[in-house]
Amino acid sequence: MSDAPVRVADEIRGATAQLAAAGIDSARRDAEWLMAHVLACDPGRLIVIDTIDDAHVREFRAAIDQRAHRIPLQHIVGTAAFGPIELAVGPGVFIPRPETEFLLEWAVSAAATMAAPLRIVDLCSGSGALAIALATMVGSARVAAVEISDDALKWLRRNVSDAPEAVRERIDVFAADVTDAAQIGRVIPAGSVSVVVTNPPYVPRRSAVGPEVDHDPERAVFAGDDGMSVIIPMVPVIATMLTAGGVVGIEHDDTTSDAVVDCLRAHGAFDEVTAHTDLAGRPRFVTARRIA
Ligand SMILES: C[S@@+](CC[C@H](N)C(=O)[O-])C[C@H]1O[C@@H](n2cnc3c(N)ncnc32)[C@H](O)[C@@H]1O
Repeated sequence: MSDAPVRVADEIRGATAQLAAAGIDSARRDAEWLMAHVLACDPGRLIVIDTIDDAHVREFRAAIDQRAHRIPLQHIVGTAAFGPIELAVGPGVFIPRPETEFLLEWAVSAAATMAAPLRIVDLCSGSGALAIALATMVGSARVAAVEISDDALKWLRRNVSDAPEAVRERIDVFAADVTDAAQIGRVIPAGSVSVVVTNPPYVPRRSAVGPEVDHDPERAVFAGDDGMSVIIPMVPVIATMLTAGGVVGIEHDDTTSDAVVDCLRAHGAFDEVTAHTDLAGRPRFVTARRIA
């Protein structure tokens, strides 16, 4: 590497070209994000930094090479933003997606209409994204996070323990299978829950997914040929844990909105079954209310 000062703008320009050539749509944003990570500054501050030293150049180029091999940005920086929180993520746990923030917003609004004591359950909790964000945003709630994978549970427990004390003291983590009524019944009493949220595995097995998704655990992503192999057996478990008037929001594949609506209606314990779309108009999650 030469002794001439290396300009941040030039490094970002070259990295953007490298990432674009690797097929990354968000090449410029990712390059800026990784430069900010290397320099330990906010991306908005890059504009006032003119040059960087050789050590930072080497670190930045190594990070760009990883990203060009389609390692997710979040695995390179070690964190993922979700709503008002930041979570530690890496191999073994699903990276929280921004689209799940629609479910988070719905749950916060739903919780605001519920009487105390407010108990929220996040089924298929992964990194704890929904559980920790809800405990952060709904200060009166006790939140249970349920997860089956030992690898994911390590990240979940770490994220809960890293949360501020006022948040972590209201979160309980349970290792259990959300499709197994007996297991869930041992940790979550029947009729005790006001709001259930879940972003379960839901991608139909033969769907084409982007290269970054290969870095999510397969069990976190795929759910049988129709994307419903976790949702269908989870619905009666949800019906049992909800109190009368309690509500559930289930995120799903954009091909399975009707299937989730049908599943909730067919169960018989739910009314107000409603399909929700995201800002792009894609079917995103279904909500329902436990009949009294
Ligand atoms: C799509 S990820 C969602 C993680 C997190 N809720 C989020 O939104 O980022 C689904 C999670 O469900 C877990 N999971 C899959 N099957 C499960 C089951 N039967 N019981 C409990 N958790 C399960 C996976 O290990 C994975 O962590």
